[in-house]
Amino acid sequence: MKAASISLFGGPEVVTFHHAGPRQPGADEAVVRVEAASVNPLDLKIIAGYMQPVFPVELPYIPGTDFSGVVSSIGVQVTHLKPGDRVFGRSSPSAGGAFAQQLIVAAADLCVIPSTMSFEQAAALPTAFGTAQQALFEVGQLKRGERVLIHAGAGGVGSMAVQLAHMAGAHVIATASARNIELVKSLGADEVIDYRSQDFTTLSDIDLVLDILGGSTLENSWSVLGMSGRIATLVEFDIESREGHVGQAVFFASATPFLQEAVRQFSAGQLQVITDSIFALDETRAALEKVATGHACGKVIIRTSH
Ligand SMILES: NC(=O)c1ccc[n+]([C@@H]2O[C@H](COP(=O)([O-])OP(=O)(O)OC[C@H]3O[C@@H](n4cnc5c(N)ncnc54)[C@H](OP(=O)(O)O)[C@@H]3O)[C@@H](O)[C@H]2O)c1
Repeated sequence: MKAASISLFGGPEVVTFHHAGPRQPGADEAVVRVEAASVNPLDLKIIAGYMQPVFPVELPYIPGTDFSGVVSSIGVQVTHLKPGDRVFGRSSPSAGGAFAQQLIVAAADLCVIPSTMSFEQAAALPTAFGTAQQALFEVGQLKRGERVLIHAGAGGVGSMAVQLAHMAGAHVIATASARNIELVKSLGADEVIDYRSQDFTTLSDIDLVLDILGGSTLENSWSVLGMSGRIATLVEFDIESREGHVGQAVFFASATPFLQEAVRQFSAGQLQVITDSIFALDETRAALEKVATGHACGKVIIRTSH
């Protein structure tokens, strides 16, 4: 099987390719023939070596966490899956392994996907959907009728968050660049602010800000909060509450608890998956470079061929 891998830390250019022989699953594992994977900014941070204190990886390392594919074999203790099942999931960042034709994972971390869900759509979901769900509802405690400001509403996490917040009955305000305004409205945003030409700090009475960018965007977000306003940030882990407003970081540890719900919402026609672009496994560097621009619209997908 072919896999993208790194033997040293750096930018997307350190990614090379190697072939490895087939491996047998452990008792509680499954072997997945990977059909698609999606790229997350976290993959770039791991490849750069920045995440070693949090998610240490051993070199050589096969990057990628989010994947979909077909179960090709299972360990002796696995009872809820069988060869041929179409599945998706997320491997732990330290394990990686998704940018490859084959992956071995704990069977408990796999979820069967319906025939109506493509491999590309499934691979796009684990981190983006799970993080949005965790940030809005577990950390942010978003309630029906509240006003939520979602920064980067056209991004991987943002495009999911806009839909989830809308479905939960919130008044959704999102930021995006001009070319993505109509798309973000179609996902359920009530208002979209062009962050390049409009000043979001003119907003007020926001109950929850979902910060995806940090820096000055986070700093300026405090001023738009209403009385019980709070901030959930994906990127500033040393955030502290300020002047009665709760500020909390989101630490997305596992997608597994969110996979069934993603399938349920997709099957009910409630969830759109926005795809920026699709690359072949051989083009993994280009896929990573696309995400590194910080301007992907929805998800960047890697499609493996066998
Ligand atoms: N804490 C956690 O557990 C956790 C979990 C998941 C993700 N994250 C982090 O969250 C961040 C976002 O992840 P992602 O997958 O959503 O990234 P992404 O898909 O790469 O985000 C790209 C989007 O950001 C938008 N954008 C760029 N600059 C902007 C600005 N100044 N204002 C508004 N929008 C802007 C772009 O819109 P335009 O093209 O229109 O400019 C683009 O649509 C990453 O740093 C990631 O590592 C953290």
